[in-house]
Amino acid sequence: MSNHGYSDIVIGLQYGDEGKARIVDMIAEEYDIIARFNGGANAGHTVETKDGGKVALNQVPSGIFYPEKILYTGSGCVVNFEKLAVEIEKIEKIGISLDGRFKISPQASVIQPHHVIIDSMTGQSLGTTRNGIGPAYADRANRMIIDRLTNIRVGDLNDNPEHYFTKVRDNLVFAVQIGKLEIDIDDEMNKMQNAFEKVKKYIEVDPLYLQKQVEAGKNVLFEGAQAVMLDVTKGSVPYVTSSNTIAAAAYTGGDLSPQYHRKTIGVAKAIMSRVGYGPFPSEFGGKKSEEHCMAQDEGKPKYGRQVEEECDLEKHLSSGDEFQMGVALRILSGEYGVVSTRPRRVGALDLVQLNYAIKMNGVTELAINKFDLLKEYSRTAKGQVPLVTSYKLNEKEIDYMPASTSTYYETEAIYDYHEGSDQDLSTMTSPSELPSEMQDLVTYIEKATGTKMFGIGVGPERNQFVKF
Ligand code: IMP
Repeated sequence: MSNHGYSDIVIGLQYGDEGKARIVDMIAEEYDIIARFNGGANAGHTVETKDGGKVALNQVPSGIFYPEKILYTGSGCVVNFEKLAVEIEKIEKIGISLDGRFKISPQASVIQPHHVIIDSMTGQSLGTTRNGIGPAYADRANRMIIDRLTNIRVGDLNDNPEHYFTKVRDNLVFAVQIGKLEIDIDDEMNKMQNAFEKVKKYIEVDPLYLQKQVEAGKNVLFEGAQAVMLDVTKGSVPYVTSSNTIAAAAYTGGDLSPQYHRKTIGVAKAIMSRVGYGPFPSEFGGKKSEEHCMAQDEGKPKYGRQVEEECDLEKHLSSGDEFQMGVALRILSGEYGVVSTRPRRVGALDLVQLNYAIKMNGVTELAINKFDLLKEYSRTAKGQVPLVTSYKLNEKEIDYMPASTSTYYETEAIYDYHEGSDQDLSTMTSPSELPSEMQDLVTYIEKATGTKMFGIGVGPERNQFVKF
């Protein structure tokens, strides 16, 4: 009998920013390899250093603090060499070496300079992260446009840099000509080539590297980037990212065959958030909130953290006005872009959507972060915890998530209200310590989703988590 290993997956079940990294961090010990299977520099997680400092990571998988673990970036990812070189430098500065343990699939596609340029010019209506993600995945699907090779892969540049850098340059020249842009082509190419020199030692040559590791008994944890509702096919299209973010994508973009799959942990947040445009039926304050959160003033958020924090928090929270309550809950939950301070749109936990995500991904265990925040509902006009249990569309109650975005925008949330508790959960460590209302809520969610609770987050610190 073969002593092969297994693979597990952690994915976000909502619109991103659910706190996946903390779950990965919590269970990483059990695995030999932490792997990424989608996305690129659009993903982000912050890791805390031993001396309390913080390092923001985008492309290197979680697990940098475990020197014996392999960190693998799969073929489903798109790689920005310049950003990666900077990230690796930051990691080295805190005394961590990635030598021999960080590997990039040769089949991953390269983010080329023109991708970032195009995304900066065209991504505004979607609110993209402007990392060139969409144009890179589009060029991967295009393969060639007439005689121009558009999909350049990491392995291409590794094996034959001279040839393929010429192709990258051709693509840049074409974009500059078409867009009549003032861009220093030599400078762009030099930056990319210099960065490539720094990171090329991390390129793996064997597309079956991960497969062979698992066959030899190693265990893999796949960490999803973005989330189910941002999946290019299954999410709230078109307000999504350009890759497949769902669990099944781990077995295409993660370079492992599906036979080793064991379990999938889905991560959600008790009060949901979303950045960018798109339908969000349980958003506090609906369309008004969407416009408020997306409003810009000279390229900066019009109502950033500082502006919002000037409001009378208690008055907003208890006002009975959904929009104002949303502003207060956003402040209390700190839902602002880390760098941009852009307000994230916030809303009640939507069980219709959660069920959609759980079923489609075969989620076996559910983690819900920010559970402690539910206590804030006790100070709202209603005083209870709202959960979305079905939708209303054209005066009819429905129990599914409409696929069409315009229909989904018209869909109203129907709520069930539950008794909450105003007790502070942040120091609790075991399920038995939780107030009975919160225990009942956990049981209710488990029943409504048919999924076992892995645990709940009760605060931002590493140890503020109640494991079930
Ligand atoms: P893109 O991935 O940069 O093309 O952006 C497409 C949409 O996905 C935008 O609404 C982004 O804000 C959103 N997005 C991309 N990455 C993340 C993430 O890691 N967390 C949350 N939202 C994201």
